[in-house]
Amino acid sequence: MPTLSYHERRGELQTYFDRTAVEAWSRLTSDAPVSRIRATVRAGRDEMRAMLMSCLPTDMRGMRLLDAGCGTGMLAVEAARRGAEVVAIDISPTLVQLARERTPQDLGAGSVRFKVGDMLDASLGRFDYVVAMDSLIHYDARDVVRVLEGLAARTHRAIVFTFAPSTVALEIMHAVGRVFPRGNRAPAIEPVRPAQLSRLIAQSQPLSQWAPRRTHRIAVGFYTSQAFELVREQGL
Ligand SMILES: C[S@@+](CC[C@H](N)C(=O)[O-])C[C@H]1O[C@@H](n2cnc3c(N)ncnc32)[C@H](O)[C@@H]1O
Repeated sequence: MPTLSYHERRGELQTYFDRTAVEAWSRLTSDAPVSRIRATVRAGRDEMRAMLMSCLPTDMRGMRLLDAGCGTGMLAVEAARRGAEVVAIDISPTLVQLARERTPQDLGAGSVRFKVGDMLDASLGRFDYVVAMDSLIHYDARDVVRVLEGLAARTHRAIVFTFAPSTVALEIMHAVGRVFPRGNRAPAIEPVRPAQLSRLIAQSQPLSQWAPRRTHRIAVGFYTSQAFELVREQGL
């Protein structure tokens, strides 16, 4: 059940990704030149996308995948190229429009249907796989686990997501950031301790049939994020 903190944060993220950050995000996810700092973020994100894609089958024909918080749709297109029937959803109408414009006509056996809305919308149907790349990094650990519970109820095989692993630098930035008014800046990234995340998942009744598999941190320049693969256990 989404909490007040989830709804509040989602509202901030919608404002941020639909207005404040559209230009920067559009550029970051294109081939256009960017600053040296942003180039490290782009390189780290490319590495992370490859990592998440490595958790999916190479042939996805006949499979449904949800790209949860798809942004400009880069991962959705890659999954469709593997033959998947992709539903890609984001709360930012502007980014979804950009994603539609950028999607190539020919995706072979695969397809992408872009939608504006919340990744927890049950009307999206059921999926074999869900991928959430950097779309949960602004939610606190308990809300992340509630989102995973909601997604798990509609997913057959695996949920692959990223979180912002807690580092000393990130925790200090987070603590300092809370002291000052946020204004137009990006909503805070919520640092999560990997052990805390694993414990919350292990304690979750709705996730009792799900097991953590691979987890892998990518740290390139100004980009740090950690992939986490959660798999539905067979035969339960
Ligand atoms: C950091 S961006 C990442 C976008 C994309 N996954 C990528 O890696 O290029 C996070 C995205 O998650 C979206 N988002 C955040 N919360 C969401 C929610 N509850 N439902 C759908 N989209 C959400 C934001 O609008 C934003 O576009």
